[in-house]
Amino acid sequence: MAEKDAVKKPVITISGLTKVFVLGREKVYALNGIDLEIYPSEIVCLLGTSGSGKSTLLNMMAGLEKPTKGAVNIYGERIDKMSERKLAMFRQRNMGFVFQSYNLLPNLSAIDNVALPLAFAGVKKKIRTKKAKDMLKLVGLGKRMRHKPTQMSGGQQQRVGIARAFVGTPKIVFADEPTGNLDTRTTIEIMEMMVTMSRQNKQTLIIVTHDIEIAAYADKIYHIIDGRISSVEDNRDKQIVPGAAPPPEPDQIDFGIRPGSTEPLKPEEDGGKDIPENAENTENTEIIEDTKTELADEPKDLPDIEPIESPKEEDSADRIEEILKNSEIPTEIHTEED
Ligand SMILES: Nc1ncnc2c1ncn2[C@@H]1O[C@H](COP(=O)(O)OP(=O)(O)OP(=O)(O)O)[C@@H](O)[C@H]1O
Ligand SMILES: [Mg+2]
Repeated sequence: MAEKDAVKKPVITISGLTKVFVLGREKVYALNGIDLEIYPSEIVCLLGTSGSGKSTLLNMMAGLEKPTKGAVNIYGERIDKMSERKLAMFRQRNMGFVFQSYNLLPNLSAIDNVALPLAFAGVKKKIRTKKAKDMLKLVGLGKRMRHKPTQMSGGQQQRVGIARAFVGTPKIVFADEPTGNLDTRTTIEIMEMMVTMSRQNKQTLIIVTHDIEIAAYADKIYHIIDGRISSVEDNRDKQIVPGAAPPPEPDQIDFGIRPGSTEPLKPEEDGGKDIPENAENTENTEIIEDTKTELADEPKDLPDIEPIESPKEEDSADRIEEILKNSEIPTEIHTEED
């Protein structure tokens, strides 16, 4: 354990984690005895080839799948033993997710997609809309706030995905192949954005990838082979010089950092140079006075509300609207006419 870890308590402790899938007579050991500790504010990468067990491990850490054997402790709580209801609440309070295929809801605008986790956490509409707008400006989408996913490029959609994952300042953010569908240049932008936000907010970021260049952004790299940790690399004491990044285009914001950097992320100042889709977008140019997200060292308590069924990947937008309508939370789905 590195000396700087010794003074901190781990956020996540995993011991003897095993996951066996049984397919007929065949047993697949997706995870085969994983032990690890992840510390506050660490940026961690799970690196391995296809089928090595990275996603299975990430899903166990996030409580999305139950292990066959072993324990997953987060902030001292055994999440592998939690009921689905308690887990849903725990995830809502402590975790954010970035997916390879973005998983944005197609019928919702960028604002509504970003505001969704806040809606499920019971945050009032006015506040969650303001926070969603601030986040979208921070990720350089000030002029795309009313766009729906199909009206955005892959890189823009992933920026919405990042805004959604970080808007509630969760203490842990999980990202499974977050740049898997993006080109090299956009990959660098997206990685820099996630790393900068995590560093600024002192969040723990856990990234799954097969790409060594992505892993270079992490403090610690866990090499996964056949469901086991084959080695652990500590990047913090290394001076990493990644391959030269292509020059930025004039209309793209440059977050100006490279692996290992702690440069702060600044909200875009002019709302970006994208052309608004229609004149209704004038509100997108408003000056935001306070774009800071909250900082906290411990998981913070959200208002004590009844947990609402969280949206699942396969949920349609109609279903989400139904969930929102059935909740006590005042909400409104924007339409093109707004
Ligand atoms: N639901 C399942 N049923 C049966 N086997 C599964 C299931 N999910 C995963 N596996 C198996 O477990 C192993 C690890 O899968 P996992 O998805 O964790 O790999 P991965 O490292 O994320 O791969 P990739 O980079 O391709 O996403 C694989 O052999 C896979 O076939
Ligand atoms: Mg995977």
